[in-house]
Amino acid sequence: MVQVESAQSNKISISLDELIYPLFVKEGHRIYEQIHSMPGVYKFSPDRLLEEVVCLQGMGLKNILLFGVPKDKDWRGTSAYKRLNLVSKAVRLLKSNIAGITIFTDICLCAYTSHGHCGIIEKGKRLIDKAATLKALSSMALSHAQAGADFVAPSAMAKGQVKAIRKVLDKAGYSNTKIMGYSAKFASNFYGPFRDIADSAPRFGDRRSYQLDYSKTKAALREVEQDIKEGADIVMVKPALGYLDIVKEVKTRFNHPLAVYNVSGEYSLVKKGAGSNFWDEEMMVWEILTSIKRAGADFIITYHAKDIARWFKEK
Ligand code: PBG
Repeated sequence: MVQVESAQSNKISISLDELIYPLFVKEGHRIYEQIHSMPGVYKFSPDRLLEEVVCLQGMGLKNILLFGVPKDKDWRGTSAYKRLNLVSKAVRLLKSNIAGITIFTDICLCAYTSHGHCGIIEKGKRLIDKAATLKALSSMALSHAQAGADFVAPSAMAKGQVKAIRKVLDKAGYSNTKIMGYSAKFASNFYGPFRDIADSAPRFGDRRSYQLDYSKTKAALREVEQDIKEGADIVMVKPALGYLDIVKEVKTRFNHPLAVYNVSGEYSLVKKGAGSNFWDEEMMVWEILTSIKRAGADFIITYHAKDIARWFKEK
């Protein structure tokens, strides 16, 4: 006989300290802008962002990942790495008002370039200029480190980005600023809603020349190995759910601190399905988190983090 009302055996526990919550910042004042493709996710002006982070901290969340959504875009993405930029200003504001939060900043040009690609493109050539891209990413990372970011997270999939950033940070005296590499980042359809928020979809071509082919495991493992060699403090697999075999393999093989990114498309599916009463949102999120953790994640980057913190509180 099997009991039908089995007590839930959640052997895998998850703490809020393991979650990293992505947040979007845009220029302006008193802005709190809902994003259609991602219910529950907003773009904040810096002042509102500060209020939000104070609230998150009160709920027990302490790790955030910041993305800038700038109003000015140009061919070379200069608003990403000018000395005082949107994200560095936001980091300064947060760090001067709140203690005890860990700030990760995304380092990539796609939201800042008028063409929407992740690196600098030589005009007329449609080729990423590697040296110029590494220089731009390093300046962007340094500006965030100077503002007080705890981790910079290069996501451009530019070869040598971790090494280049580490070198610039060390030289400028920021050896304590850590790096989370978006090491195994697949060219995924699940980034759709994010590109809507960040207005970062490529205006021509796609990202398959620099993001990983989702049918390939070995190439992903090589990227992770390379990032570890280059000095990444945390490596990452992204997206999460279709890639748990990679997560498991990375954890087993390298045993290095590992973050897994539960991306925008994965989030929106859960939200929209819950909105149509296809499933219970909380139960679904719990199953997803448990699966990611079971596969070997040390950190989970997820847009569900705020809801999770609320559910924890209600218990
Ligand atoms: C920037 C970047 C992307 C995401 C994080 N950083 C998008 C992309 O590569 O197009 C996606 C995150 C998500 O979908 O939640 N390169």
